[in-house]
Amino acid sequence: MPDIRNIVILTGAGISAESGIDTFRGGGGLWEQHRVEDVATPEAFERDPDLVLRFYDMRREAIQTKLPNPAHEALARLDAAWDGDLLIVTQNVDDLHERAGARRVLHMHGEHLNAWCTACDARTRWTEPMIDRPACPACGQKALRPDVVWFGEMPYEMDRIYSAIRTADLFVSIGTSGAVYPAAGFVRDARQLGVRTLELNLERSEGSAWFHETRLGRASEVVPEWVDEVLAPAR
Ligand code: APR
Repeated sequence: MPDIRNIVILTGAGISAESGIDTFRGGGGLWEQHRVEDVATPEAFERDPDLVLRFYDMRREAIQTKLPNPAHEALARLDAAWDGDLLIVTQNVDDLHERAGARRVLHMHGEHLNAWCTACDARTRWTEPMIDRPACPACGQKALRPDVVWFGEMPYEMDRIYSAIRTADLFVSIGTSGAVYPAAGFVRDARQLGVRTLELNLERSEGSAWFHETRLGRASEVVPEWVDEVLAPAR
């Protein structure tokens, strides 16, 4: 792929769908089974912490039984082989990119397998339930919550993401519906900066018109094909 050196990849729930993790929107999506306002807002946590903790305990347990699929593996292969800058910005709170071996991953919506202490601000790797209010390993307070960005909260590391987009030659969006900002706006930002943009998704996303190119298909097929293409000249 000529003239491409720096790449920013945005991933969403669609890349983990074939690993058996529910997406959020569409038939059977998580937000059809649960109301966002009941489980994914700071207000919900204040109102009914048990309900919210139980929901995330279930999700945390479930993701640990899932495995990366060929799309995660292909991105890990790209990460290992790519000499230029590369940043995989994921909206996903699962750890499948890392388990596939990717290193340059940024979790803009947090991580299921982290606990965040609202008393001392420490973040701790967390694989167990939180419903019984375990103590924070750093300060001993029973003030842990899932380290997941809820609606109404600011996603993580926005400065780092925008700075990567500013120096990118290629922006690729994989498996996201383009319904949630600020991630949904990255393609427009990239376009305005003159960055080439590519969408890989099962169906056209809401911001599909902003992409130079769209390839429709299952992530486990279109992502490895694209990675092969990108790495081909280097071989
Ligand atoms: N391969 C590729 N794309 C797929 C596949 C698949 N096998 N299965 C589904 N998709 C696509 C869907 O067509 C849809 O466009 O993935 C997209 C998933 O969209 P959402 O469920 O809206 O997930 P996402 O875009 O990641 O959601 C963004 O919303 O609720 C929040 O914080 C949550 O990070 C999440 C954010």
